Parts: sequence; C-alpha cells; structure tokens
Amino acid sequence: MRPVLVTGGAGFIGSHLVDALLAQGHRVRVLDNLSMGKRSNLPLDNPLLQFIQGDVADAAVVAQAVAGCVAVAHLAAVASVQASVDDPVATHQSNFVGTLNVCEAMRLHGVKRVLFASSAAVYGHNGEGMAIDENTPKAPLTPYAADKLASEHYLDFYRRQHGLEPAIFRFFNIFGPRQDPSSPYSGVISIFTQRAQQGLPISVFGDGEQTRDFFYIADLLALLTQALTAPQVVEGAVNVGWNQAVSLNQLLADIGELCGGLPAITYQAPRAGDIRHSRADNQRLQAHYQLPPTTSMQEGLRHLLAQS
Ligand code: NAD
Ligand code: UD1
Repeated sequence: MRPVLVTGGAGFIGSHLVDALLAQGHRVRVLDNLSMGKRSNLPLDNPLLQFIQGDVADAAVVAQAVAGCVAVAHLAAVASVQASVDDPVATHQSNFVGTLNVCEAMRLHGVKRVLFASSAAVYGHNGEGMAIDENTPKAPLTPYAADKLASEHYLDFYRRQHGLEPAIFRFFNIFGPRQDPSSPYSGVISIFTQRAQQGLPISVFGDGEQTRDFFYIADLLALLTQALTAPQVVEGAVNVGWNQAVSLNQLLADIGELCGGLPAITYQAPRAGDIRHSRADNQRLQAHYQLPPTTSMQEGLRHLLAQS
C-alpha cells in the first residue's frame, strides 16, 4: 500500500488529517520542519506512519518525500498572515517555493492527486461582509495571500500541462484542539480561549467588529479525506466555510459565557493587511462534497475548552 504524504502533518490541521487517514487504514508519510508543528501531535509508534523532518523549500527533501506516494495533502506553510507581513522573504520560501517543489516532485514521480490548503485571504477586502463565492475577484493584501493565490495558479498549470489532479480548498478560519496558541501569530480562537482559561489579558486588534467564518476541525476532516480518495477532483477552488460571520466581540462574549467570565480586554490598532470581513458562499462545497452536520462555533468552542 503506497502512503499518502501530508506536508505540515505535525501541525494543527495536518495532524488531525494524519489521524483520520490512519483510522481509515492508510499508510501516511509526514514531512514537517517542526517550525510550528510538534512531534507530540503525531502517533509516532504507529507502524503505518513515517515521519520525515525536513523543509518543503528544499527540493531534494520534497522529491524524496513524494517518491512512492499515492497522493499528497500539501498543508505545510507559515499559516500566520501577520508573519508574512513581517517577513515576506522567509514565508515565501515555505508558502510558495514549497508548493512549486511539491508540484515538480509529483511530476517527476508520476503522483497525480494533491490536496492544497489555500485560503480565504486570496479574496482580500470584503467591506460589505457579504458571502463571497469562488469567482469573486481576487485581491490579495498580504504576501501570505499572494503566495496562496500564486500556488493555486501553479497547481492549475501543472494540472493542464502535466495531468496533476489538484483539489484546492480555500479554508476560512479553522479552529479546534492542537491549534498552537503559544505565538502572537497563532489563530485567534486558540489565543483567546487559552488566555480566558488562564485569566490573562486579551488584545483585540481593531474594534472587534471584524468578522470571520469559523469552521470546526472535525467537520473539515470529512472533506479532506473525500478529496484525497474521490474518483475525480473538483476542478477549481472550493470555499470551506459555513456562510456565518461572527465578530470577535461576539466570539469573546461566547468564550466569556463558557468560561464563566473574561479577563481584561484591550483594543489596539488593527493589524496591517487585516481583512475586515470574511464569509464564505459555500454553494460549490455543498454541490461537490458530502458535508457533515454543522458544528456551530459555540459547540466547537465547548469541545475545545473541554480538551484544553
Ligand atoms: P500549523 O502552523 O499548525 O501547520 C502548518 C505546519 O506546517 C506546521 O506543522 C509547520 O511546522 C509546518 N511547516 C511550516 N513551514 C514549513 C516548511 N517550510 N517545511 C515543512 N513544514 C513546514 O497551521 P494550520 O492551521 O494547521 O495550517 C495548515 C495549512 O492550512 C496551512 O497551509 C495554512 O496556510 C492553511 N490554512 C489554515 C487556516 C486556518 O484557519 N488554520 C485557514 C486557511 C488556510
Ligand atoms: C486565518 C489563518 C490563516 C488563514 C485565514 C483564512 C491562522 C494563524 N491564520 O487568518 O492561515 O489563511 O484565517 O481566513 O490560522 N486577532 C486579535 N487578537 C489576537 C489575535 C488575532 O484581535 O490576539 C484578530 C486579528 O487581527 C484578525 C482576527 O483576530 O482580525 C483573526 O486573526 P487570525 O486568527 O490570525 O486569523 P486570520 O488573519 O483571519
């Protein structure tokens, strides 16, 4: 049985995907440089799992990791939008060169199916807060968003020219256990829930009225495993969100209710390149994938708080 390669498999989304694939009986190979991911996220004693510590920006390492695989889930990237604003050169290596290396290695080794973790960030500003569909003009505001959009275009080139089968997902804001809260660059729910539980002050960048479409990790796994094994891929990118916009102030109110109160909150200047509103039109997702029942944000928060 040939393994599925999960790049970024020691991280938040990747390690959950690894668990899901192992549970389905797949062999899994992980390539991760452990910049954010952790060995402890992986069941390293499982004989079906092979772990390679290495960088997707290193073409030779990627070629070695891709060789002999049946499919690739390419999740390795610096996931923080803010990190790309602060260090565009370094993040470009992971977020774009890494994708190109994966495409080339797949072409060389005749591997066709690749799942790619793109992002709602490719759309840029959504001042009105309307649901955005996949045909909305793209206006990437940050190096992170530009690298994701360029990666999509390269995957499409390799599809047309070399027969790759890319399943491109534009994730909105995914949250759940194992999202690492320890960096200021971490996902907002991981930071807010950890600080609320520890009674530490919370910083909100902006007025807190910016919105996000939060999607619980368990719901995502069903989609990713379908995309890896479906007889055919869906052509073009697919939004992954619930078409529900929640403001940070609402998020804080919900966390406060579940935690029995909130620590001090300070409102600071908005982050450069921060998107005001983000909300997915998910009709393409509904048309092409079997969606699990929605885990509401409150329900997801409850699961997360119970596990941390
Ligand atoms: P994460 O930081 O937990 O996972 C990313 C993993 O990639 C980490 O384990 C990290 O160590 C690894 N990595 C980073 N650079 C690497 C490199 N150069 N070589 C090898 N490994 C490298 O983040 P996540 O939230 O699990 O994100 C997974 C993917 O989904 C990323 O591509 C991210 O851009 C994308 N995404 C995430 C969200 C979200 O809301 N979490 C939304 C949209 C897209
Ligand atoms: C997130 C993902 C990104 C993904 C995008 C898709 C992470 C780290 N980022 O970016 O990979 O492509 O969704 O929609 O997973 N904020 C605060 N205080 C904090 C931290 C954040 O106010 O302590 C604010 C931010 O300024 C932003 C919002 O919370 O307005 C969300 O921030 P963040 O979780 O970093 O997510 P995105 O930037 O939306």
